[in-house]
Amino acid sequence: MTKKIEDTQTRAKITLTDSRGDRRYEFPILEGTVGPDVIDIRSLYADTGLFTYDPGYTSTGSCESKITFIDGDQGTLLHRGYRIEDLAEHCDYLEVVYLLLKGELPNPAQKLKFEQDITRHTMLHEQINYFYRGFRRDAHPMAVMCGVVGAMSAFYHDSLDISDPRQRMVASYRLVAKMPTIAAWAYKYSMGQPFVYPRNNLSYAENFLHMMFAVPCEEFEANPVLARAMDRILILHADHEQNASTSTVRLAGSSGANPFACISAGIASLWGPAHGGANEAVLNMLQEIGSKERIPEFIARAKDKNDPFRLMGFGHRVYKNYDPRAKVMQRTCHEVLDELGLRNEPLLELAMELERIALQDEYFVEKKLYPNVDFYSGIIFRAMGIPVSMFTVLFAVARTVGWIAQWNEMIEDPHQKIGRPRQLYTGYPQRAFVPLSQRG
Ligand code: SDX
Repeated sequence: MTKKIEDTQTRAKITLTDSRGDRRYEFPILEGTVGPDVIDIRSLYADTGLFTYDPGYTSTGSCESKITFIDGDQGTLLHRGYRIEDLAEHCDYLEVVYLLLKGELPNPAQKLKFEQDITRHTMLHEQINYFYRGFRRDAHPMAVMCGVVGAMSAFYHDSLDISDPRQRMVASYRLVAKMPTIAAWAYKYSMGQPFVYPRNNLSYAENFLHMMFAVPCEEFEANPVLARAMDRILILHADHEQNASTSTVRLAGSSGANPFACISAGIASLWGPAHGGANEAVLNMLQEIGSKERIPEFIARAKDKNDPFRLMGFGHRVYKNYDPRAKVMQRTCHEVLDELGLRNEPLLELAMELERIALQDEYFVEKKLYPNVDFYSGIIFRAMGIPVSMFTVLFAVARTVGWIAQWNEMIEDPHQKIGRPRQLYTGYPQRAFVPLSQRG
């Protein structure tokens, strides 16, 4: 089905012209199934003695992948060829997890077994419980996630050998299964409430909401509309090509680091406000704007090159059209607020007015800045009673499957080797050492 990238005759020609005259080089063009072709420059340095230069990797393909494809101009997102809109509408999160990990949607029997396998791995080793007590109660839950997920390599020694496909799959299942428990316990610890253990009779999203909001003194049953909304939000955040955190996981994994350490590195990268931390930053921004009357002031700041302020939840490296996830997220936002009787939630009104004004402003139109996945998610989470500091944690829970699917693909890729970029060096050339006694 997918075109072998070696089978191509198209070439890229580079001519270097200097005092020695012209030196001509050719490099193969590799073709994917869809999307831009690539120039295979793996021999460029050996052939020419030159590096490429691409800070932020705006024009660089770091790997071959079969997992996710984004067409930024069309605003489309595919997981193993399926549209995100179809998956969000017709699947549950574990079906999408199965698809990302194994390459195909499960049949009914496969779906049931996978659900059972994941559900039975949701508990944590009891001693991990004590890890939380080392943190301050007011620690940011992303700091807790980095620490506890990294510590899993100190507990699950039977799934650390990355050369063993079975151990890689066991680690993958454990991470998908345990992330909601780790996340919910980070919240409970911050609240001073007792940890709530997972329940095997609940779905993935219901289990997460139960561990977040149940208390020992009374029964808790997750609102089905909110559970479905949470499940859909997890789907929308599951994977997204070679974004910063996924690239972090791949680079960490390329050295042979264990999967728990690699996912902990991905969590750390996701935390940044330019990436997964944007959902938290959107809420803080909306609260700072406060009223529709102040929107023009903040739009002006976002356009001012001398002001570091950016409209959080807007813009994207790849999407130069509406992020398809944001459209589904906006619909989910209305569903949740309607269910909770918060139809006139001021923050939603403010967000929709901000979006309306921004999308009419020539700066945003010219630079093709549209709402991204983070613009509406925070409003939903806040309406569900989830604190702002937990927003990026939820993103990390959802993205774990994407990270681990890409990590597995990287290890299985015969072309992959340890990632080790070079640089354009502009520091001092070699110079004579100056002894301390002679330094003025
Ligand atoms: C995620 O990569 C992924 O796939 C990420 C993600 C995923 O699922 O993994 O989709 C999740 O991280 C979504 C993005 C969440 N971040 C935010 O919402 C933060 C606000 N957005 C910006 O920081 C920015 O848009 C980025 C970081 C998302 C993208 O930055 P790029 O690709 O480096 O683009 P850029 O900074 O070069 O911007 C191009 C121009 C610049 O102006 P000029 O220098 O050309 O004059 O657009 C401007 C920028 O100043 N610009 C913005 C803006 N985003 C870009 N101006 C105001 N507000 C913004 N939000």
